[in-house]
Amino acid sequence: MSDETLSNLLREERRFPPPKELAGSANVTDATYEQAADDPDAFWAEQAKRLDWDTEPTETVDWSNPPFAKWFADGTLNAAYNCCDRHVEAGHGDRVAFYFEGEPGDTREITYAQLTAEVKQAANALTELGVTSGDRVAIYLPMIPEAVVAMLACARLGAPHTVVFGGFSSDALATRIADCGVEVVITADGGYRRGAPSDLKSAVDQALTKCEGVRSVLVVQRTGQDVEMTEGRDLWWHDFVGGQSDEHTPEAFPAEHPLYIMYTSGSTGTPKGILHTTGGYLVGTSYTHWAAFDLKPETDVFWTAADIGWVTGHSYLVYGPLVNGTTSVMYEGTPNTPHQGRWWEIIEKYRVSILYCAPTAIRTFMKWGPEFPEQFDLSSLRLLGSVGEPINPEAWVWYRHYIGGDRVPVVDTWWQTETGMIMVSPMPGVSEAKPGAAMTAVPGVSVDVVNDEAHSVPNGSGGYLVVTKPWPAMLRTLWGDDQRFIDTYWSRFEGLYFAGDGAKKDDDGDIWLLGRVDDVMNVSGHRMSTTEIESALVSHPKVAEAAVVGATDDTTGQAIVAFVILRTEAGDGGPDVVQELRTHVAAEIGAIAKPRQIMVVEELPKTRSGKIMRRLLRDIAENRELGDVTTLTDSSVMTLIKDNLAKPDSPQE
Ligand code: WTA
Repeated sequence: MSDETLSNLLREERRFPPPKELAGSANVTDATYEQAADDPDAFWAEQAKRLDWDTEPTETVDWSNPPFAKWFADGTLNAAYNCCDRHVEAGHGDRVAFYFEGEPGDTREITYAQLTAEVKQAANALTELGVTSGDRVAIYLPMIPEAVVAMLACARLGAPHTVVFGGFSSDALATRIADCGVEVVITADGGYRRGAPSDLKSAVDQALTKCEGVRSVLVVQRTGQDVEMTEGRDLWWHDFVGGQSDEHTPEAFPAEHPLYIMYTSGSTGTPKGILHTTGGYLVGTSYTHWAAFDLKPETDVFWTAADIGWVTGHSYLVYGPLVNGTTSVMYEGTPNTPHQGRWWEIIEKYRVSILYCAPTAIRTFMKWGPEFPEQFDLSSLRLLGSVGEPINPEAWVWYRHYIGGDRVPVVDTWWQTETGMIMVSPMPGVSEAKPGAAMTAVPGVSVDVVNDEAHSVPNGSGGYLVVTKPWPAMLRTLWGDDQRFIDTYWSRFEGLYFAGDGAKKDDDGDIWLLGRVDDVMNVSGHRMSTTEIESALVSHPKVAEAAVVGATDDTTGQAIVAFVILRTEAGDGGPDVVQELRTHVAAEIGAIAKPRQIMVVEELPKTRSGKIMRRLLRDIAENRELGDVTTLTDSSVMTLIKDNLAKPDSPQE
């Protein structure tokens, strides 16, 4: 973020107090902050009562061996029972858990009773496939109800799932399967995306030629397209799961039993397997879902418009909402299929009261213009949420005005795959919101902004966002790599969790997030590592060296821009080299990782110690005047790159 943007941001003076209707009925009040601050242990013990425990925990946090936390360690419970069965037992079996809207327009209404029965059948099916507590199961599905059923069936058996986003390539899937030793994969023939069926099963087949250990593949029939089924390994979900009994007794597991592994990009090449465990994660997600969205499960219709393949889908489409007995909308497709008013049509149809989405979507809607939302009745909305990247004040105000009718609170929620739950957010009934600010830590959570020496910065200053105390939904480690867990998050500042985000405290002490301070890019709210994409580029036979930067983009927040040096024997690479490299990155990682722009260059700017100077490349990618080049080995390199790019036939897209 440039200094100018930053100072504009902090000159933002618009204020939005909570609506009067809400102030009297809000879940979180000033008293909640006070209780949490006075006695955090008692506060979290109280939040743990949101769950049905087989053995009630007597402990809250055990921080005797930092950074390895244990929460509610002597409690036992079953995650799926807490999401499903108990609501049926409490008489809410007829309540809708999901209104599913498929991209082609097919719909399903799934009650808590039906969800419970389907989860039990799927748990029986997995048991027949030999899955037991501790075994890993990969889920590679489109946004269809079976994705939720599959996750909960795994959770019911104590078998950690790893959901791999359907947009990832077979290579990315294979890496994840291999990293955590998956034994069973749940997939579909395909899914609908932008009006056309995608192909998932063949990606699984390809992935399984590259890794070992998977003995069964369960295949949901979604599109009806032809797929190859491998005898003895592949089974159709509708036959195999559909034929199972819907009786299944849940087993209680210790609170610290692994619930899932979610891979996310770090600043070095290989994705990190974030491990979440059961009790603390469910307490943290259900509490924050209730608090930040002021959830009223009897009347709200909640819609997290995020894919289940990301943490937002895990925490606020599946676990948090289901523990709370929420009615949610689940939508399979893109916002412009078959028309640009699709989201607003869905809100009108299901009377959605809370919408949770990413700034990149909001900026896209801004670009399309207000005439699309204006055609629909959005009066059911009473709260709007934002997540995934910093939201610029203009987008925030547009969202509140055109979608929220200038009536509803907007909550900008900051958190991460690692934190598992929302950490910094306004509370809708308490906070006087500032457009673009995530405001304050949620009650019970402690964060700070510190300088390089780990000292808390005064109001009006910037630094790094850190979490100063353990929290229930925190990641417990990185799968199979405790040392990397320590190095990545706990070594930069003694005793503090380093989030990797820059932040600023304004004059009131409220927090503004300023984006990543490491080599992680945020593209449309998706985390991408520059090194991961560089490795993908360098694995192409024509490429000698590559440098990737995230350039500011009006819609996607950041966009991937790559600079590559070709190998001598590749000559000029041929006329299609840029397209060839983009396709190669898509095959290695997934279409979401395709660079927006690839520039073929002769040299890369490097410091005398050989480090690529990304800052300069970012200047070029953002069309800025070049910054200070005095530390460059050869400052003519930059002129060369710039001159080359100025040529009309330069190889860029
Ligand atoms: C960024 C998504 C500013 C941040 C839940 C973080 C945000 C990364 C916000 C985590 C926000 C998320 N304001 N930045 N409200 N929410 N981020 O793991 O850089 O996919 O570190 O989790 O997204 O991305 P992740």
